[in-house]
Amino acid sequence: MNPQTLSARLERVAALVPAGARLADIGSDHAYLPVALMHRGAITFAVAGELALTPFHAAERTVYDNQLGERISVRHADGLAAIQPQDQISAISLCGMGGETIRDILDSGKAHLSGLERLILQPNGGEQPLRQWLMDHNYRILHEDALRENRFDYEIIVADRTGPVRYSPEELYFGPLQLQARTPAFLLKWQRRLRLKQKTLAQFARSRQGVAQEKAQGVAREVGWIMALLGEGD
Ligand SMILES: C[S@@+](CC[C@H](N)C(=O)[O-])C[C@H]1O[C@@H](n2cnc3c(N)ncnc32)[C@H](O)[C@@H]1O
Repeated sequence: MNPQTLSARLERVAALVPAGARLADIGSDHAYLPVALMHRGAITFAVAGELALTPFHAAERTVYDNQLGERISVRHADGLAAIQPQDQISAISLCGMGGETIRDILDSGKAHLSGLERLILQPNGGEQPLRQWLMDHNYRILHEDALRENRFDYEIIVADRTGPVRYSPEELYFGPLQLQARTPAFLLKWQRRLRLKQKTLAQFARSRQGVAQEKAQGVAREVGWIMALLGEGD
């Protein structure tokens, strides 16, 4: 991958960044996303934030090699601390991290959010706690996507802070819009997940040490939801 050829995953994210955005890409690694978007004329300014030094230097190198130093500011910072008020950021992307990590970055960086930024989130797992955070903080989910690349399932969640919103436990688990759209990628993901969860339940049943009842009940509830989604066990 390079700024000319993004992965299918980042290409989907790129398509969801509003035209002309001032983007903060947090956890930018090589800064491929903001550099690709800038080359395409799709954004007007970007911050590439990175916590770890090696990817921070990689981001600096990509921006320098592409002669974009005046329009992409690479910053060594923890989460949303990379964003300054004068940046007038209108969109934030947080991609390729666990959903819990993205949630923690949003939560600990709340002071850096104006509430006007569109969030474009691409969690690798942990979508449920991330959606819970969005709901708890008045973000409405505007778009969701599921895709598979290199044998990994990915989700993309786009949200705006619009005011109070309520999602049911199943909507938080599967994604409110994915539940409606039921795309092939989404259904295939949950078919695979169902097999894994059923295996886990069978292991719990065989376990000699015994598994905490609450944990087993939680997995059994999820299996029930997934079977209902897929129309199995009717
Ligand atoms: C797996 S990479 C994903 C890179 C790129 N966003 C993508 O989707 O291809 C995750 C990056 O997030 C960075 N990261 C993790 N926690 C962070 C934080 N609190 N603040 C900034 N960057 C963070 C890591 O150092 C790593 O480079």
